[in-house]
Amino acid sequence: MEKKIILTGDRPTGRLHIGHYAGSLRSRVKMQENYNMHVMVADAQALTDNAQNPGKVRENIFEVMYDYLAVGIDPTKSTILIQSQIPELYELTAYYMNLVSLSRVLRNPTVKTEIAQKGFEKSVPSGFAMYPISQAADITAFKAEVVPVGEDQLPMIELTNEIVRKFNFVYGEVLKEAEAVTGKGSRVPGIDGNAKMGKSLGNAIYLADTEEELYKKVMKMYTDPNHIRVEDPGKIEDNTVFEYLDIFGTDEEVIKNMKEHYQRGGLGDVKVKKYLFEVLNETLKPIRERRKMFESDPQEVMNILKNGTYKARQKAAQTLSEVKKAMHIEYL
Ligand code: TRP
Repeated sequence: MEKKIILTGDRPTGRLHIGHYAGSLRSRVKMQENYNMHVMVADAQALTDNAQNPGKVRENIFEVMYDYLAVGIDPTKSTILIQSQIPELYELTAYYMNLVSLSRVLRNPTVKTEIAQKGFEKSVPSGFAMYPISQAADITAFKAEVVPVGEDQLPMIELTNEIVRKFNFVYGEVLKEAEAVTGKGSRVPGIDGNAKMGKSLGNAIYLADTEEELYKKVMKMYTDPNHIRVEDPGKIEDNTVFEYLDIFGTDEEVIKNMKEHYQRGGLGDVKVKKYLFEVLNETLKPIRERRKMFESDPQEVMNILKNGTYKARQKAAQTLSEVKKAMHIEYL
């Protein structure tokens, strides 16, 4: 049976952290075994809100590539590609823009939130407002059937499918609807207890962090502010250390006992944190080591990206040609 096609991707605006790992990277590594996986470095999308700062995007293309390869996205199984080097995607975007009203574009809740967060209210770059349409081009160009994303990306998939239906209705059946798959239960809070881990929040543990950095971050992690003396009974709800153990721990028995002990009183934060450090380090150590290896060979990493992009571009060109045929605009 043909493997189902997956497209997923990230904007290269920073190094990837353990929130990315638990939320999507580790499932990508598993899924690449049974799916035809495409992983996109969405650098053109990153430029829609970083046009004044192209250096940041450029540097982070490498950071994200190192992170991908370090966690085990395997270029012999997955196609890793870079968005900006596939001009067919923008041609598709241009035609799709005609199928979506301006008010529909501006109604996107994720885009609205981002506009507020970035302080764009007075002057939204038009490319930024349109990025969901370009994302629809990404998804449809590869005929992706499955798109694993975070909850915030659901409006993008919804719009994509609206475009697909409209296109197919107007021009004939060419495009495929995609299904969004959101990872369950792996939302990693920041080390400060904030519900979201993020670079701008300064509360992230990065895949590239050294062992010392990891230790320091775990030691200053938010726990139960009322758990002052070791003997005090502690709360495990909204206690970041225990939330992390639930996400990254492997020994359920040990964790269960620790939770009970903590709630009873008599188990100190430092002890739990030391255990959490061991747990996280076990996951991150091999990633860190593989990352080092790739960092020492940027040329090879570039080659991987080049080969994946070449392959992906052929596919996008094929879709574009079908699109243009259906639209009867293949004049020359
Ligand atoms: N918008 C996604 C994000 O911010 C990145 C992205 C771009 C993407 N193109 C995509 C994700 C296509 C899935 C499919 O994380």
